[in-house]
Amino acid sequence: MKTIHLTLKIWRQTGPEAPGSFKTYPSGPISTAMSFLEMLDVVNERLILDNDEPVAFDHDCREGICGMCGSVVNGRPHGKQRQTTLCQLHMRHFKDGDTLVIEPFRSKAFPLVKDLIVDRSAFDAIIADGGYVSVNTGGAPDASTIPIPTATAERALDAAECIGCGACVAACPNASAMLFVGAKVSHLALLPQGQPERNRRALAMVKKMDALGFGNCSNESLCEKACPKGISIANIARLNREFMKAAVWSTEE
Ligand code: SF4
Ligand code: FES
Repeated sequence: MKTIHLTLKIWRQTGPEAPGSFKTYPSGPISTAMSFLEMLDVVNERLILDNDEPVAFDHDCREGICGMCGSVVNGRPHGKQRQTTLCQLHMRHFKDGDTLVIEPFRSKAFPLVKDLIVDRSAFDAIIADGGYVSVNTGGAPDASTIPIPTATAERALDAAECIGCGACVAACPNASAMLFVGAKVSHLALLPQGQPERNRRALAMVKKMDALGFGNCSNESLCEKACPKGISIANIARLNREFMKAAVWSTEE
């Protein structure tokens, strides 16, 4: 098993109001079989042994499904591997002697909590305003009792892959949340279960996104490149269509 040594420049900030700065740490010997988060665990174990404060970072499943992890590594949210969350990024993708600059997702709508942790509850607030189906769907129906064309089901399931990590916001020069909201609106707009609240959902989620301080989309496509789940910007185009139709035809306020 190969071992590499890295120089880590990590953003340290004790709290939202405290000044932050990069601090440089040698990684020590790191197995290339480790994940990026396991590498940070090793660094933290040494910091604790040295009576230093460990680096605070978000994580949960470590399997690429929960959306909790996420930092910017050398300028890229979740690092340089396409369609890979930080927890699934492995150290074999780095070379011995590399310098890694590790910093939090930066956006006005994601205020910093500590070190690499930011508060992404703005996404929860957007979901609370429309990312659901409120009709009583009863028990689980047998498979295929609701006929949905395969291509439509595939597009809905592709949109449903969004894990709400926020990398799209961190990658966008406008800190836009259009890819996230586009994925959520698309998922439900494509399926029969999402139809009763289709107009209300598009209007409410866009309104909340704007109110929370996310920027507008200017077609940079950086969100799509940073997305660990490969969510397509076609979902942004669909969101725009959904919003326009809802704005014209809806009886919602
Ligand atoms: S669209 Fe992609 S980058 Fe944005 S929150 Fe969803 S999974 Fe993360
Ligand atoms: S820790 Fe769950 S997606 Fe990375």
